[in-house]
Amino acid sequence: MHWGMENRMARIIQPADGRCVMLAVDHGYFLGPTSGLEQPRETIEPLLPHADAIMLTRGVLRNAVDANMQAPVVLRVSGGTSILKELSNEDITVSIEDAIRLNISAMALSIFVGSEFEKETLVSMAKLVDEGERYGIPVLAVTAVGKDMARDERYLGLACRIAAEMGAHFVKTYYCENFENVVNSCPIPVIVAGGKKTPEMEALELTRNAVDHGAVGVDMGRNIFQSDSPAGMIQAVRAIVHGGASVEDAYQIYEASRPSGTERAAG
Ligand code: 5RP
Repeated sequence: MHWGMENRMARIIQPADGRCVMLAVDHGYFLGPTSGLEQPRETIEPLLPHADAIMLTRGVLRNAVDANMQAPVVLRVSGGTSILKELSNEDITVSIEDAIRLNISAMALSIFVGSEFEKETLVSMAKLVDEGERYGIPVLAVTAVGKDMARDERYLGLACRIAAEMGAHFVKTYYCENFENVVNSCPIPVIVAGGKKTPEMEALELTRNAVDHGAVGVDMGRNIFQSDSPAGMIQAVRAIVHGGASVEDAYQIYEASRPSGTERAAG
């Protein structure tokens, strides 16, 4: 791997243990003002010290993140659709020049294997990989799952393997039963997305299962920023990913950080 590419990857996936806690706050690119991200700066700032990397769009980066922050940026560079239309009809929405100007560490785009615009999204990924290779910027493929697709080993294994075959440098996907088979048939690092908000205990179980079955870590959004204690939750996730904590011990970290009942009632 080229030195620049390797150096950028090492900023994201920590060389000390080969693990990563990425904070995903890119949801607005197709969801608009997502719950918990209405004021991105307020949500993001307290979480940054606990994130190995942050995944977001250039609009939120420019407007809601101070340029002196240290976390490497994984820039969402695909989009062009909204929840009101066919989501798989994405294109690349950021030029490589702007990505470089923003000093990012990786570019992320979604691939929609099995969806209407499967081919277009895969060709976009291949083009992005060519651009990334030219300038030493890794590509994170996000395996978006269309509404008719099953989040199972067969489908996620197919999507992750195609991403790797076409040159992506790492891939983000969902956790599923027999997840180790998805990881074992994918020659690039696999990161697990958090998915819809669930009770904190379940999100921590997902994290534990993901790393136990071969993921390098998580790229988690809603289960952190929609928690009643986002900072506690990201530290609990960190304790599992980097500290080898049990789910129970990690839950204690979250629980200890929660606002008291009266504070919660006061909002
Ligand atoms: C959307 C994304 C999100 O970043 C991803 O879904 C992770 O966030 P969450 O943990 O909320 O699922 O890539 O396409």
